Amino acid sequence: MPENEEIIRLNEVYKIFGPQPRGRAFDLAKDGVHKDEVQRQSGHVVGLSNVSFSVQKGEIFVVMGLSGSGKSTAIRTVNKLHDVTSGEVLVDGVDVQRLEGKELQAFRREKMGMVFQHFALFPHRNVTDNVAYGLKVQKVDRTEREAAAMKALQLVGLGAYADNATSELSGGMQQRVGLARALASDPDILLMDEAFSALDPLIRRQMQDELMAIQDEVHKTILFITHDLNEALRIGDRVCIMKDGVVVQIGTPEEILTQPATGYVAEFVQDVDQGRVIKVEEVMVPPDPVHIDAEFGEVVKALVDVGERLVVDASGKCAGLVTRSDVERVATQGVPTLASAMRTDVPIAIPSQTLNELYADAGKGLPIACCDESGRLVGRMDPTAVLEELGRVEALADAFEREVYM
Ligand SMILES: Nc1ncnc2c1ncn2[C@@H]1O[C@H](COP(=O)(O)OP(=O)(O)O)[C@@H](O)[C@H]1O
Ligand SMILES: [Mg+2]
Repeated sequence: MPENEEIIRLNEVYKIFGPQPRGRAFDLAKDGVHKDEVQRQSGHVVGLSNVSFSVQKGEIFVVMGLSGSGKSTAIRTVNKLHDVTSGEVLVDGVDVQRLEGKELQAFRREKMGMVFQHFALFPHRNVTDNVAYGLKVQKVDRTEREAAAMKALQLVGLGAYADNATSELSGGMQQRVGLARALASDPDILLMDEAFSALDPLIRRQMQDELMAIQDEVHKTILFITHDLNEALRIGDRVCIMKDGVVVQIGTPEEILTQPATGYVAEFVQDVDQGRVIKVEEVMVPPDPVHIDAEFGEVVKALVDVGERLVVDASGKCAGLVTRSDVERVATQGVPTLASAMRTDVPIAIPSQTLNELYADAGKGLPIACCDESGRLVGRMDPTAVLEELGRVEALADAFEREVYM
């Protein structure tokens, strides 16, 4: 985070839903009455109660909380999809609540891109048209908007899919199109509401990695909403934890883990991985195996850019592993074959296993084959990825235990 400059600020924001938001419900909320009690007494729903936070330029600020805690309501005050009942919302010094009509539209377009859980893409238009759509609405000419769309697609790794219909893409890829669309107009701020929540754990983790990599390149300010504490701690520079419409803690991931502000946060944190609940399926990558019947020449080619490949048999089961040095060793023999180069002592994990069970296997330095119950190869894990993931989490967990139990 280079600049220490505030770009978004919510100041004592209240949002009450119901026919008379500024009536009795608001008075009760101001007195700190819990939202359930406000609802009982007034029939109104407290969306936000005295919410204040500020987001610095260039940071990933994550708002995390269970469903109904007010996360979406909070993010919607930033682009004025919601009016607030009381309080102030500032974006780059502008009092958002005062904006109306064309001015508001222009402000949203120029300042922020939005990504939601549901991609809201046009299924039959191609990827480029989807990404360039916002620019088209802004009457940016065709050449310029297509260039901007392509640049954004390259950022999210979809340059090759520019002409595909979005309906042909997987969920993860569609979400990347959504991200590219938000990036295309080069806004300062990205608002992401549960953007990855509908994705499979494996794809989800890849998207988190990718978002962090993209952020290293584009240095946006990202306001990211999630109900998943793991996700929050993984990608957030700072995390704001909400419960029942109020902010319970704001801090860096380390602070949240080591100095939970309330029993509520502490309980949450106890459930977080600490190495014990990161599952193989969250970390594994597509297996990209070679087939056991492959020509030796093909195998050699497959080992040009990767040091090792898993090998599958005709039924998709893992048959073994072949490394570049194995191939080099047998290459000088009469008729070199994959069978003679391959080894069969491959460490195997199942997707539902947790990473801490794989320490020993990861220590062997070979890729770990991830196989489902029927033995079919569904993923691979590189030993360094396992050790890194465990190391990162353990450092946090150690600190957590030191602070909390001593
Ligand atoms: N338009 C609305 N009308 C009435 N109540 C709403 C509306 N939007 C949200 N709420 C309520 O406000 C609270 C916070 O909702 P929301 O911000 O969507 O939570 P989250 O995104 O954290 O799941 C919930 O109790 C929800 O039922
Ligand atoms: Mg929500």
